[in-house]
Amino acid sequence: MSLYASLSTLPPDALLGLMTAYREDKRAEKFDLGVGVYKDEAGNTPILSAVKKAEARLIAAQDTKVYEGPRGNVDFCTHVEDFVFGAGAPARTEGRTLSFTAPGGCGALFAGTSLMRRMGTKKVWVSKPTWPNHPNVVRSLGLVVGEYRYADPETGTADRAAMIADLSQAAPGDGVIIQGPCHNPTGIDLTLEDWRALGAFARERGLAVMLDVAYHGFAGGLADDMAGVQAFLAEAGEGMVAYSCSKNFGLYRERAGCFMALGEAPEGIAAATTHVADIGRATWSMPPAHGAGIVATILGDKALRAEWETELTSMRERMISLRKALADALVERTGSNRLASLTTQNGMFSQLPITPEGAKKLREELGLYMPASGRINIAGLNMGDIPRVAEILATAL
Ligand code: LMR
Repeated sequence: MSLYASLSTLPPDALLGLMTAYREDKRAEKFDLGVGVYKDEAGNTPILSAVKKAEARLIAAQDTKVYEGPRGNVDFCTHVEDFVFGAGAPARTEGRTLSFTAPGGCGALFAGTSLMRRMGTKKVWVSKPTWPNHPNVVRSLGLVVGEYRYADPETGTADRAAMIADLSQAAPGDGVIIQGPCHNPTGIDLTLEDWRALGAFARERGLAVMLDVAYHGFAGGLADDMAGVQAFLAEAGEGMVAYSCSKNFGLYRERAGCFMALGEAPEGIAAATTHVADIGRATWSMPPAHGAGIVATILGDKALRAEWETELTSMRERMISLRKALADALVERTGSNRLASLTTQNGMFSQLPITPEGAKKLREELGLYMPASGRINIAGLNMGDIPRVAEILATAL
């Protein structure tokens, strides 16, 4: 009997399976609104010019490939802490924060969820709906997944009352993952008031909250996008943050992420630091250097940073124009205003009221690829395709 006989075959990961199926599709007309990757008007995902320059500089200056150490690139960590906690935050000089380079935002989520488990967490709550890899990470660590309602489908806005009602069932010490700006898959974001109220609620209930920030700069800009996260942390007093540079620096395959935590006392953070180091050691042993090195080079250089910010702004503005054009085309095609809310949502994703069967039909019959959840990647569109994409989507709406 084979060693592997007890294993059942798993279905492919929904998004990765879609990516492969799209690549293999030989039809002349096909549209990829699946995996969350930014594409330009020509359908390419070019390397940002600031990244190209930083990479060239990095390679020219690099004289060793020796390990950097458990925290990875310390300059990178400092820059990301500047974004998240603020450059002059007293908590940082008081030893109440920690930061580690992680293999992508998902590595940071894994580190944070592992830390929750070491703190005694048994259950981790995620928004319903959420990025499918959130429950995947939680389950892979042997923890139970809880779900909290997130948005009101009627109004297309975040539903704080429903979130708090569901999270009221959480026990003290339960984990909660809350997404920062540009919620995946809905594009519906929390207001500043929501963030404050959730921070106060988390403190009162003793919840172990991790904020997942994967699209910093894609909603309203670098400062605006961090206002909610900072308001939450100010109210909660403690919390964890997983930060990804995959999207805003276009570094997808380089796996540049950062795990951070804020605590009320330096002693707790000092202990947590030893655990995060131990979690990293037991999994990836040492964090990857290249992507974090690129980000540190960009953020540490005035001219490169300005160039990156210009490129980030142009990605954000292009997504906003695509949203508007798609919303207009869908309103016209469907004769209904209900999808006008696409323009009030943020970032790469929105979720359309399309059933899993509808999504399957669009893929099989009309070559439009989207996950069964009805999520579309706005950043995968281009202006030229919008009339035809709207025509196809309208058949399922
Ligand atoms: C997505 O949601 O499409 C992206 O975050 C890519 C991924 O890894 O799933």
